[in-house]
Amino acid sequence: MRPMKSCISTSISGEIRVPGDKSISHRALLIGALAVGETVIEGLLEGEDVLCTAAALRALGADVERDAEGVWRVQGVGLGGLREPAGILDMGNSGTAARLLMGVLASHPLTAFLTGDASLCRRPMARVQVPLEQFGARIVAREGGRMPLAITGAGDPMPTTYRLPVASAQVKSAVLLAGLNTSGKTTAIETLPTRDHTERMLRFFGAEVETTEEADGALAVTVTGQPELTGRQIQVPADISSAAFPLVAALIVPGSDLTLTAVGMNPRRTGLVDTLIEMGAGIEIRNEREIAGEPVADLHVRAGGLKGVDVPASRAPSMIDEYPILAVAAAVAEGTTVMHGLAELRVKESDRLAAMARGLAACGVRVEEGKDSLTVHGGGGPVRGGGAIETDLDHRIAMAFLVLGMAADQPISIDDAEPIETSFPGFVELMNGLGAAIGPAEAAA
Ligand code: S3P
Repeated sequence: MRPMKSCISTSISGEIRVPGDKSISHRALLIGALAVGETVIEGLLEGEDVLCTAAALRALGADVERDAEGVWRVQGVGLGGLREPAGILDMGNSGTAARLLMGVLASHPLTAFLTGDASLCRRPMARVQVPLEQFGARIVAREGGRMPLAITGAGDPMPTTYRLPVASAQVKSAVLLAGLNTSGKTTAIETLPTRDHTERMLRFFGAEVETTEEADGALAVTVTGQPELTGRQIQVPADISSAAFPLVAALIVPGSDLTLTAVGMNPRRTGLVDTLIEMGAGIEIRNEREIAGEPVADLHVRAGGLKGVDVPASRAPSMIDEYPILAVAAAVAEGTTVMHGLAELRVKESDRLAAMARGLAACGVRVEEGKDSLTVHGGGGPVRGGGAIETDLDHRIAMAFLVLGMAADQPISIDDAEPIETSFPGFVELMNGLGAAIGPAEAAA
């Protein structure tokens, strides 16, 4: 446990590049391991979540090496070439690592045992178990489809069409990845568009992936099985879900002026930027470009002027990881913000809906927690603060409240900053370098 305290900050300014995108990093390693030849990845996120994927792939027979900071080399084993791991695969805190890997394993005829930390072992895996069993995989999990679990991949997998009951890029990706080593066409149908990094990266490696619209407006994503995947050079953009924290800090600390460079701007990920602009944020999108099949831009942010808004449920998939930090922005904004369609927040690294409602209330913010909605009444300036936040192994809850502490009259403390290492190594140092005052809880009284 690493308790930390965040105190009110004077303006922050500078130009920074946050670590690489977590979703893209996992996929680059996974698909690189299934390709023929060498994949070189630059800007890989070296957070614990992604390191779990790297370690699991090594245990499955791929050669995954770190060359230099953020530069990784993967010698792919080729589709179908994974070997049975001798030990248990520990996926740590990462739902993405666990669910995407289960997808890959579902069509490889070997048995693997997967576990994770206390948070991951609470999270639902039935959402991937159900479609993966349609391919012929056998999965034995704990009650309620929880980890630890055992998976035996199908020797002769059957191509599947699966309509997602929840908007989840992890479930969609698990289905598509299972479809890779399956002859014929595999289709995942989603009613709300979720992040499409798997589709983009599969195409980038040479697979055929088609997206078509169904009569009811749903999107059907089809992968043709057993493609020739060829090793590639990949540059990973900065993670918009990590950029969100300094970005909101710059908006809520008066006088701030910050530039975030090379941020991934995949349109299925930019819901937070759209919402903050609607709230009146001064965000300029500059130097738009594309790297390795993904759109990227620099974001220039100036403090001030946030007003409450209504955030529709349809926007949830494009900002699903950003609600904790949006709730922080809403607490400092003038007026009420209502966020709808948040049921999925209850099954993230923690129940984020409850955690935000509880934490904000402890900091003197008026909030209402609905079944799948959150209402935050902003005071148009610094919050009272003073709360002691339980982070419950959730990196984004930890970072959100450290940012709120920067615009709070009394310091805000969190019980544990360690989970931040899963997605944003160096977060505290980076924020302090910009002008934040975050330190050990004992020392910062
Ligand atoms: C992710 C998808 C999202 C997101 C997670 C990363 C991915 O999860 O919350 O942090 O990389 O596919 P769901 O698919 O469960 O919504």
